[in-house]
Amino acid sequence: MSFSDKARNRDQAIEIRSSGARLYPELLSRAEQENLRDVIRRQIEKAPLFNPVMPRTGKPFTVRMTNLGRAGWVSDKSGYRYQSSHPVTGQRWPDIPAVLLELWAIVAPEANQQPDACLVNYYSDSAKMGLHRDEDENDLTQPVVSVSLGDEALFRLGGPDRKDKTESFRLRSGDVLVLTGHDRLAYHSISRIYPGTSTLLKNGGRINLTMRVAG
Ligand code: SIN
Ligand code: MN
Repeated sequence: MSFSDKARNRDQAIEIRSSGARLYPELLSRAEQENLRDVIRRQIEKAPLFNPVMPRTGKPFTVRMTNLGRAGWVSDKSGYRYQSSHPVTGQRWPDIPAVLLELWAIVAPEANQQPDACLVNYYSDSAKMGLHRDEDENDLTQPVVSVSLGDEALFRLGGPDRKDKTESFRLRSGDVLVLTGHDRLAYHSISRIYPGTSTLLKNGGRINLTMRVAG
């Protein structure tokens, strides 16, 4: 699959903040979303979604996860980290599909390398993701690219300090968000999913794909 001219046109991006975050609303067409969904589903068959738990407390996340690429982000009682194998199967993570590497090159031209990590988050209707920064990567100047598939979500974007005020944006199926510049280290969260807002995923819910250079 190759992306449409629409996807190749950087003017599609909305600078949602002057500090760096940019959103490409519905950058992926329905056919591109369906293709990506099917590609990801095949990778999830090789590396099943697992249930991460919070460091120390051992409290489970409401989101289920898996990873693609050389480095996979995991959270367990001993902390957050990147590792080369799946915590349940012990196998190496499947590759990041070419279609996602192509997307990275289009939306994140400021990156000076390809992503080596793609976190796959699956949100059921009631799942959320608490306020956090993406800061486990070696080079925090490389952008983060996130792709939304399925039901809409309420995304909150704050600042470099946990206490900074947050702004809310709805992320829809096919949207691509780039966290770059000062917003690369902005706190962010998913505070809710809007069930029934997309027909892309047969059983509902939302998939988020987050590509990063873990290093
Ligand atoms: C994350 O920050 O890990 C997930 C963001 C999202 O689901 O859109
Ligand atoms: Mn994040």
